[in-house]
Amino acid sequence: MDITIRQATPEDVADITTLFRDTIINVNALDYNEKQIAAWASVANDTDIWIERISDFYFIVAERDTEIVGFAYLKKGYYLDGLFVHKDHQRQGIASALLRTIESQVMIEDYPEIRTDVSITALPFFEDRYFDIVKKQKKTFKGMAFQNYIMKKTL
Ligand SMILES: CC(C)(COP(=O)(O)OP(=O)(O)OC[C@H]1O[C@@H](n2cnc3c(N)ncnc32)[C@H](O)[C@@H]1OP(=O)(O)O)[C@@H](O)C(=O)NCCC(=O)NCCS
Repeated sequence: MDITIRQATPEDVADITTLFRDTIINVNALDYNEKQIAAWASVANDTDIWIERISDFYFIVAERDTEIVGFAYLKKGYYLDGLFVHKDHQRQGIASALLRTIESQVMIEDYPEIRTDVSITALPFFEDRYFDIVKKQKKTFKGMAFQNYIMKKTL
């Protein structure tokens, strides 16, 4: 597949936040209610948070031609804090390619396992990639409870 993975730069912030917003509105909307989706997607409006994430974390993007079609980032070396694929490029192996690069980075940094908070939407993807559920939980964000799962995989 014609996908290139590279580290993100601050110049990518507009593409990353647009992808994040559009994927939540179009893909995650199948599993969360309207208010939850609006609150979650609004995180895209805070450009400063995303610039900080790009500079502070191991943050990668997947590109097809010159278009960003997915991104992922690692917090603390072993915690996958975000994995999003463009709404028009779902189920083409892009998240799998990003996850392979993320897992390699966790191993390079010598952590024995990777952890992540997983949405209802992404649960089948992570289960198929050998992650185990540690806990099903309700995470509070902007006064709303979001069901998700803490998952881990030994590397
Ligand atoms: C979850 C997500 C990252 C997967 O990205 P993707 O690029 O479509 O995933 P891939 O193409 O690499 O892998 C797809 C595989 O995952 C599994 N999978 C993904 N969605 C699935 C679903 N709805 N039902 C069953 N299996 C699913 C299957 O094994 C599938 O393989 P297949 O298409 O051959 O059956 C993407 O759907 C997404 O962006 N979701 C919204 C954002 C999100 O919730 N991110 C998680 C952070 S909390």
